[in-house]
Parts: sequence; C-alpha cells; structure tokens
Amino acid sequence: MSEGESSGASVWHQGRLLLGVSPGEPFNACERVVDRHCARYPEATAAIHRNHHGDRRVFTFEDLRRAVSRFASALDALGVKPGDRVFTLLEPMPELFWSILGAIRTGAIAGPLFAAFGSEAIRDRLGDSGARVLITHGRHLLKVRAAIEGLPGLKQVLVVDPPADGLRGIERDLAALLADASDERPPHPTSEQDPMLLHYSSGTTGKPKGVLHVHEALVGHAATARAVLDLRREDSYWCTADPGWVTGTSYALFGPWALGVPQIHYEGGFSSSAWYSLIEAERVSVWYTSPTALRMLMRDGVEAARAHDLSSLRHICSVGEPLNPEVIRWGLETYGHTIRDTWWQTETGCMQIANAPWLPVRPGSMGKPLPGVTAAVLDPTTHEPLPPGQEGLLALVPPWPSMFRTYWNRLDLYGARFRNGFYLTGDRAYTDADGYYWFVGRDDDVINTSGHLVGPFEIESALLTHPAVVEAAAFPIPVADAGEAVAARVVLAAGSESSRELIRDLKTLVRRQVGPYAVPREVVVVDRLPRTRSGKIMRRVARAEHLGLPVGDLSSLDES
Ligand code: PRX
Repeated sequence: MSEGESSGASVWHQGRLLLGVSPGEPFNACERVVDRHCARYPEATAAIHRNHHGDRRVFTFEDLRRAVSRFASALDALGVKPGDRVFTLLEPMPELFWSILGAIRTGAIAGPLFAAFGSEAIRDRLGDSGARVLITHGRHLLKVRAAIEGLPGLKQVLVVDPPADGLRGIERDLAALLADASDERPPHPTSEQDPMLLHYSSGTTGKPKGVLHVHEALVGHAATARAVLDLRREDSYWCTADPGWVTGTSYALFGPWALGVPQIHYEGGFSSSAWYSLIEAERVSVWYTSPTALRMLMRDGVEAARAHDLSSLRHICSVGEPLNPEVIRWGLETYGHTIRDTWWQTETGCMQIANAPWLPVRPGSMGKPLPGVTAAVLDPTTHEPLPPGQEGLLALVPPWPSMFRTYWNRLDLYGARFRNGFYLTGDRAYTDADGYYWFVGRDDDVINTSGHLVGPFEIESALLTHPAVVEAAAFPIPVADAGEAVAARVVLAAGSESSRELIRDLKTLVRRQVGPYAVPREVVVVDRLPRTRSGKIMRRVARAEHLGLPVGDLSSLDES
C-alpha cells in the first residue's frame, strides 16, 4: 500500500484553496468555473472554438456567463427542476459546453452523451437515467427519433440547427428558446454534495451504468489540473477529449476553467496536419491527449511534426490506455518533452495515479499515487495488500472529493466495488520497489478501444438482433494503432450461412446501435462458443481460440 508522496499537503487541500472553498462550504460548480472569474477578469479568454472548416471563435468568461445563464433560463422556462437529468448529444461545439454548465447552474444533473453513439446506446442511457431533456443537433435527429420512441420521462428534445423539413412532437428549436431567455440567471444554491454529472460507463455484464458525481468533484478537477497538468492562466491549453467521455468534462471543461485557464475546443476529426496546425496557430503550451492519438501521430512520422512550429509546447500528458515506452521515446525526440501518463477512471472523477511534473518518468509506468491518494495492489482472494512485484487488483482507499457517489439506480453494483476498506478499480497492476505503479490489464471483460471502454454485452446484444445470429461473444484483440480493437465470434442459426454480406450487415448493426467506435474489426462465424457448465459464454476462451493462443486451464475458468 502506498500513499502519494510529496513535500506538501494533499492535492485535495490545494484544490479547495484554488477554488476558494472550505470543506463543507456549499457551492455551485458552474458559479466556481464561470461567475467567479467574471468578477475579476470578465474579458479574459475562456474558450477558443475551432472547427474543421477553419472557423475560429473566441469567448471571454463574461461571454460564457451570459451564454450559460441563457441556457439555464431556457431550462427554467421548460420546467426543469434541481435533480432533473438534462442530457446532451452534441459534438464539442460551444452549445455543448453551455448546455452542460447551464444544466448544472439550475441544479439539474448534466448527462453528456458521445455524439457518435448509436440509437440503442442513446436509448439505454436516456431510459436508465429518466432524462427529462435532450439537447442535440439537427443532424442527429434521425437516430434520436429512433432512440426515444416510448421513453415516457423525456419531455423535450431541443435542437441546434433544426432540419429544413421541420421539427415534430416534443422537438423544439433551441435558438428560439434562447432568444427569449435571460442572460442574468444566478446559479442555484446547491450544496457541494448535490449531484451534478452523470456519465455512463460500460461493465462486463448488462448495460452501461450511470456514474454519478457531485459538485464537490470540482475540487479534484481543480487540484489535478494544477498539480499534474501544471495549468496556469498564461497557458494555451488543449485537451483533445470529447465531453461525451469523462476526460472531456473533467479536463476540457471543469478543471481548466476552475483555474481560469483558456481552453481550445476543436470540433473536427483527427489528422496529423490539422492537429499540428492547431498547436502551431494557437501556440498550445499544455496538451492532454491519448495514447491512440499519439500512436497515430507517430505513424505519420517525425517529418509531419517538423513541418510545424511546435515550440510553444511545454507539457504533454496522456490518459486512457497504456502509454507505450516507444511512444514516450518518440515524443521526446519529436516534441522535446517527456509525455507523462496519467491513470484514472470515470468512477474516480479525476487523476489518481500519475507521472506528476516532479516525478522522474519510468517509461511504461503510470507513475505514483498523487499526494492525498492511497493506492494498493490487492490479493484477488483476500483483498489484502500485496508486496511490490506481485500482480493483483488495483485499489484505492476512499473517499476523495471527485469519487463517484453511486451507480444510478444500481446501489448493488456500487457496493460490489468496495472490499476490505478499498475501492476496487477493476484493473490489474503491480508496483515496483520504488512505489511506481505498472498497469497490467483489466480484471474484467470490458474492452478498451482507442481509450473508449465498450461493454462486450452491448456489442453482443447488437449482433444478436440479427435473425441469423444465435450466439455471440465480443472481446478485445491487440492492434498497432488503437491498442485494442473489438473482435467477435458468432454462431449462426440452423440454415443460415456465412457470407461477406452477412459480416458487413453485422458490423453495420453494431455501428447503428452502439456506435462506430465499437464496430468489430473482425467477425468470425464459428460452430460453437466455449461455455461454462452453467451455460455462460467464456469470452476469454473465445478470445484465446480467436488469437490461436493456448486456452489455459479451462476448469479454473469454468464457473467464473
Ligand atoms: O482500464 C483503465 C483504462 O481506462 C479505464 C477507465 O476508463 P474510463 O472510465 O472510460 O475513463 C477513461 C479516462 C480516464 C481504467 O480502468 N486506463 C485509464 N488510464 C489508463 C488506463 N490504462 C492504462 N494506463 C492508463 N494511464
């Protein structure tokens, strides 16, 4: 077991100082990230929004306060009350950030969805959370209409850029609502323990679970944005994550704005030239990105980087998947900086283990627990801490400010994450003699593709909606650029035959229902899938068969 080492106090204490709140003092996170700065520097830049058409828009903190107030008053006008769930399905456009903060300003709970989610993924999350309002873009209405049919709790769908053929039913034009809304709507006086954010995260079985965070989470966001990302108001900061996933809310919204730091928000896809041009044009100094993105940049070569002036960069961090030592070496050679890996999860709300700026980096290690974090590697059976060098379950000692408070409607699953005074992360790891943590893998069947977690059950459910499929197993396979990709093995109904069209249709089903990121790279038809005596499909054995690896001792997997 190891506590974060430091010469000073816990980062959570520093987070409170940075936010200007004492323990137990009530605050509204929207007020702390927006209004607080307007009192001192209303004209300072809050956000620079860029899109793939080359448009660039700059927003000050005062612009942000007015926009967020307008969103909040529009929600008031619709009857939204504290505790109601307000969801978004938007690309990272200004309206996305305003909607999330506008909802939080009213005391409602914001639920950001990844815009590329398929219809079933949207339906599952809106249905489970009992969402009252969804804010989306006209381009998503087709799949939204399919997703929300028969969801009684959903009262309004607010649409950015409505389509030419008009809106129907509960759909409303967002711009028209905002035109009538006040830009002077004060923040609701929430307590720091009131809920503010619901992110869905995938597990091994069943549908994704709603991970609930409270306003106090902002303490963790602020603390780590300073301690690990080393953010200052003079920085030009770009986090490449989308707020449909937790990195995009904690570090492309809350943490940096809690510190009054200007952020770049880029609404466009990946290409090395677009990304390098953005860093060059905006003089980005701090960059938070993912191993998948870095591997893709590495594939495009040093020359692509050398074609741009990247001298503004001073600090680069990464999250979401293991950061390969060769990427760190390449980054040092290409950008002149050691890329610093950080580890955390939707449930932890903010970074817990990291290669903080004061730590010498051991390439391949996630770093050490931050000051104030106590981590351990546990024996899987006894849940007692293991000595260095032994692999086991990565665990943390609760509580901390940004720790999730429950899984929405699933207190049973929440309780199952705690054993022997520890929170079990679901990852496997080991420590070395000097207290560095080394990631080994997931302890469950969840697939991490390009830094996005996907539940095998969601993919299998989509495959099983095809009439020809009677059994399906989804599992991760290693790939060069994405770390892990999804693969699936399926058994067909009697009389059905495998064909290229069938495989294509199966992939399309996953794309439409779950999302493009979850589409299996490989789908293979097999005669049977390995099962336990009680009939449960053994995904790990299916994976071993798929990869031609030894299947190991089946008896030990049998009733697992
Ligand atoms: O398995 C770990 C992996 O991503 C999981 C958390 O995923 P999610 O809740 O979607 O949040 C992602 C962004 C915080 C973890 O349980 N993971 C995250 N960071 C790392 C990592 N795996 C290896 N190295 C990391 N630095």
